[in-house]
Amino acid sequence: MDVGVSRDRQDGDGPRGQELSGGADRTEGEGLGGLARRSLRRLAGGEAEPAATVSRLPRFAVAATEELADVRPVAGRVHPERARLALADALAASQPVTSRERFAGRSDVLAELIAAIEQQRAHVVLYGERGIGKTSLVHVFAETARDARYLVLYGSCGVEAAFDDMFRTFAAQIPLLYHADVSPVADEGEHGRSFADLIDGSALDPRKLAELFARIVGTRVILILDEYDRVRDPAFRRDVAELIKNLSDRAARVQLVLTGVASNLDELVGFTPSIRRNIVGLGVGPMTADDMAYILERAEAATGLMFAPEARALVIRMAAGSPYLVRLIGSRAALRALDDRRAEVQAGDVIAGTEAVLGEWSAGLPGRVQRTLARADVRADMPILVAAAKASGTPEGWFAPEDLAPLVRGMDPAAIADRLDALADSADLFDRQGEDGEEGRERRYRFRTQGVAQLLTLSAALARGGA
Ligand SMILES: Nc1ncnc2c1ncn2[C@@H]1O[C@H](COP(=O)(O)OP(=O)(O)OP(=O)(O)O)[C@@H](O)[C@H]1O
Ligand SMILES: [Mg+2]
Repeated sequence: MDVGVSRDRQDGDGPRGQELSGGADRTEGEGLGGLARRSLRRLAGGEAEPAATVSRLPRFAVAATEELADVRPVAGRVHPERARLALADALAASQPVTSRERFAGRSDVLAELIAAIEQQRAHVVLYGERGIGKTSLVHVFAETARDARYLVLYGSCGVEAAFDDMFRTFAAQIPLLYHADVSPVADEGEHGRSFADLIDGSALDPRKLAELFARIVGTRVILILDEYDRVRDPAFRRDVAELIKNLSDRAARVQLVLTGVASNLDELVGFTPSIRRNIVGLGVGPMTADDMAYILERAEAATGLMFAPEARALVIRMAAGSPYLVRLIGSRAALRALDDRRAEVQAGDVIAGTEAVLGEWSAGLPGRVQRTLARADVRADMPILVAAAKASGTPEGWFAPEDLAPLVRGMDPAAIADRLDALADSADLFDRQGEDGEEGRERRYRFRTQGVAQLLTLSAALARGGA
């Protein structure tokens, strides 16, 4: 089928063709005056010389100011080049959503987050699986809070994040006009100054910082520490915990929102029980099918492509609640349709796209794990592994043999526990808790290597969906 897909531009037709011929003419037809004018333009930083060699080089197809995902294709026709770009924009799996218009669903957890900040005046920890949408959620939350005149500052934590740098940077973005000792009608000298100007050069101490932040008046400040789980230095976490405690004790008008991939609240902020009552933990769980469908609908509107009903259902089934997977699989499938010059994305495209994703994921696992998963004895336990992968799909990641029983036909929890132990011992796939001798702890397991559970779930979904 080739409906609605317009062919690429003809030679000489369209902006690129015009530029090619125009550029060549100008170079030849100019006298000395023209040359001088061009040199002057260059010196003044004006438009570049359109020499023939330059116009042969690749160019950007679309201006950076254009929001492709928000532009409806003309008269329902699909221009493959443009659709490809629009697709990259609408279904980019590597970028968080930063605007409300492109943000699907999640109103429950957004409402809980707002209530925790506004009503409980608590600090918040958002936790959930990789790619479930934490960063997108905090961006949209930030936009919402700014509308309510909060001063929202965003920081993404890296592996090497240091307390001192991070909070000095935050302090530098809080205008000194919000300091209790500075009059709102202060003279010009106070304009342009920030809280960072009140911090001396010695190492930043969380208690002193909390004292300083407690002097904030006239606004409320939200500090977002995204990807908090990535920070390696335990001193960073200790200082942040100390800061939270001191801010709470002083009823300061500064609240922290931390996000991270974690099995639970403890893993992110753990060891300081005294701050637990000042923190609200919010788990970000799987997305609903409707919200996932909305992501695909937006991509359809932006590209002019259509997902056939079976293709759409298949993407949603494969993605199993992950907006990241909706985008990854959806875009791979749509690209296959475009390669074939089809305007309709079909179920076959989704299956082929999913296979490609699985191949890449598998190649990304450590060699040892790849070999383990290929072993015949491990493959024989595939139903248990897939059930374990599903049961681990909570923010906590831990599961008990009982959780698997409804998912594995014909095995009771004791038999499942035996197989899980065998896999933990011989294949080293799981962490274990509550082993013999650990009193009072429920026996539970968790996948040891990041990405294995996702790989197993997706390949099982493919096995079912593709059948
Ligand atoms: N509500 C949403 N609507 C549409 N797309 C979303 C939504 N939430 C997340 N996505 C998409 O899913 C992908 C992952 O989102 P995001 O980066 O926010 O997840 P994350 O939980 O922060 O991931 P990580 O654990 O890797 O930090 C991105 O491509 C993002 O655009
Ligand atoms: Mg993130």
